[in-house]
Amino acid sequence: MIGNSLVQHMNAEVQADFISTDLAAIILDISSAAIVVSGIVNRNVFDSLNEDKQTINTHGERQHRLDIQAQDIFISYLKKSEKCKYLISEECDDIINLMNGNLQESVYSVCLDPLDGSSNIDVNVSVGSIFSIFCQQRQLIDRWNPISSGQEQRVAGYFLYGTSTMLVLSYGHGVHGFTLDVNVKEFRLTHPYISLPKTGAIYAINEGNTEDFPLQIRQYLAYCKQFDPENNLPYKSRYVGSMVADMHRTLLKGGIFLYPSTGMHTNGKLRLLYECNPMAYIIEQAGGLAIDGMRPILHIPVLNTHQTVPFIAGSYNMVKNVLNLYKNESINNHLYYSC
Ligand code: AHG
Ligand code: MN
Ligand code: MN
Repeated sequence: MIGNSLVQHMNAEVQADFISTDLAAIILDISSAAIVVSGIVNRNVFDSLNEDKQTINTHGERQHRLDIQAQDIFISYLKKSEKCKYLISEECDDIINLMNGNLQESVYSVCLDPLDGSSNIDVNVSVGSIFSIFCQQRQLIDRWNPISSGQEQRVAGYFLYGTSTMLVLSYGHGVHGFTLDVNVKEFRLTHPYISLPKTGAIYAINEGNTEDFPLQIRQYLAYCKQFDPENNLPYKSRYVGSMVADMHRTLLKGGIFLYPSTGMHTNGKLRLLYECNPMAYIIEQAGGLAIDGMRPILHIPVLNTHQTVPFIAGSYNMVKNVLNLYKNESINNHLYYSC
């Protein structure tokens, strides 16, 4: 049954006091921007015929033209909304002040991955956008006041530009999925109260890095591959290479997604503020677990705006198995353990 429009849904949630008027307005503005981003993603092949020069982002990664175009679209909508002060974006080294010259202060800031999985765009594989909204604890001065951890997030969501365009959203009252009705350019509630299955039979990891994985991860992968039909083993391996697509499948079908530390990324590759924290918030709200191996992702202290962390998330029982491998290893080696 197709439900309310996103506007109707947010109005009802404000009426029921599950979310503030300002946060609901920011969600609607970000969603309007995502509808435009969805359009440029769909048009990419036509526009890329005049591909301009490649640029490199703060992580030393090749930037796709759409990475920047998507960022600019979100910035223009957030500036117009006049409800957010700072934007931390994957595609910009510095913190973006959205209220330049505007006397009105705002207590909200946004962390954003404007286009996730952008290396997949040119081969027509699903990509997405990931966002997190938080409230500064004190009135903003002329610099960004770092949040202490992901527990301070007020809203987390992602857009998936796939066979259809979806918004998956949480603000502490469950996880809800909305699908874009392209005929009227409106998101409609199609997946109310998404609940992550407690266990699953799919694991997602880039096994090209196996040689560099921590021992616990290699032990877990061996477990996933053993022949034990009574326990639904071996699991299926699925890896899209777009975090949003891999996490969306995990959220709906159950399973586990892992991006541990590797030789190239000794602290993991995925960024805490605009990939791991929002995804961890959604996964926990849906009944799953998200850890770095030793700690819940949402408890990890924020040290800088582009910090990366190892990320293991998905069905509660599956992630718990990985947690226990780290726990056993830490007890054997008397390492610090906080889960
Ligand atoms: P982004 O396109 O925003 O840089 O994110 C890419 C990320 C994430 O989407 C995906 O899970 C991961 O990179 C894949 O990394 P590998 O290609 O190293 O597996
Ligand atoms: Mn990303
Ligand atoms: Mn990105």
